[in-house]
Amino acid sequence: MPTELNRYMKRLVIALGLVLLSASLGSCGSDKTKVPTASAAGYGPVKTMNNTAYRTPEVHGPVPRNPDLELSADFTKGAGISFSRVAVADKFIAMTFDDGPNPQNTPRLLDMLRARNIKATFYVVGRNVELYPQIVRRTVAEGHEIGNHSFTHRLFSKLSDSEIRDELSRTRDAIGRAAGVQPRTLRPPYGGMLQRQREWVYAEFGYPTILWSVDPLDWRRPGANAVCARILSGTTAGSIVLAHDLHGQSVDAMPATLDGLLRRGFKFVTVSQLLAMKAGTATAQATVAVPAP
Ligand code: NI
Repeated sequence: MPTELNRYMKRLVIALGLVLLSASLGSCGSDKTKVPTASAAGYGPVKTMNNTAYRTPEVHGPVPRNPDLELSADFTKGAGISFSRVAVADKFIAMTFDDGPNPQNTPRLLDMLRARNIKATFYVVGRNVELYPQIVRRTVAEGHEIGNHSFTHRLFSKLSDSEIRDELSRTRDAIGRAAGVQPRTLRPPYGGMLQRQREWVYAEFGYPTILWSVDPLDWRRPGANAVCARILSGTTAGSIVLAHDLHGQSVDAMPATLDGLLRRGFKFVTVSQLLAMKAGTATAQATVAVPAP
């Protein structure tokens, strides 16, 4: 039947178009641009005094690259106390990774980010910083931002003020010892923090509380493809994206996720750079830092 055939051909053309479109934007199932893991290549996960043989794995095949962005990270003027996203006029987003550093997953995530010229923000847990200070040092050396995610990862809304003060200052000091930098923002474990607590922490530590607007629920381990698809469908200009470098699956999802976001025109900045746009210290179009008057 010619009409049946016509309808069939039409469907085939539409399906083919969708396949081509998704291929051009990057699909979550693709592993063509996957970076080989350090352990698969037969050496330890990070360069240390005892493991000088470590080399950042080569990326096989071309990957899209984040543009060079020299944006101001000074958000002190006009910044607020809590953020889950930031209103921006261009497609800037901040990728955040929580609960590390992790000796298996964080180094290979750093390789993936470096291959794409992406700077991210790592909300580290203080006790992990004390276990793996060299990973924090590498993270900072490669241009990423470190944020405070408490020392023992307990729910802040159930803690006393002095317990919270202890959690934050121990983590701040561990980061300082490991990498010589100070965190500038806070992400409370589980996002659970009372407004009153956010206010006194902001007054005492100067940390805005950073939540998120895109949550792939990767801690439930839904599989790398689901993590990738959820992030690609949820991300818009100004998004703060939550993921966990604690989980291997979440890191497995990153090559396709990062490439998909880059192909959709998103530009990656750190949380502080995103906040600086809100405060008006950088314009959304600027790709170089604007000197303050
Ligand atoms: Ni956490």
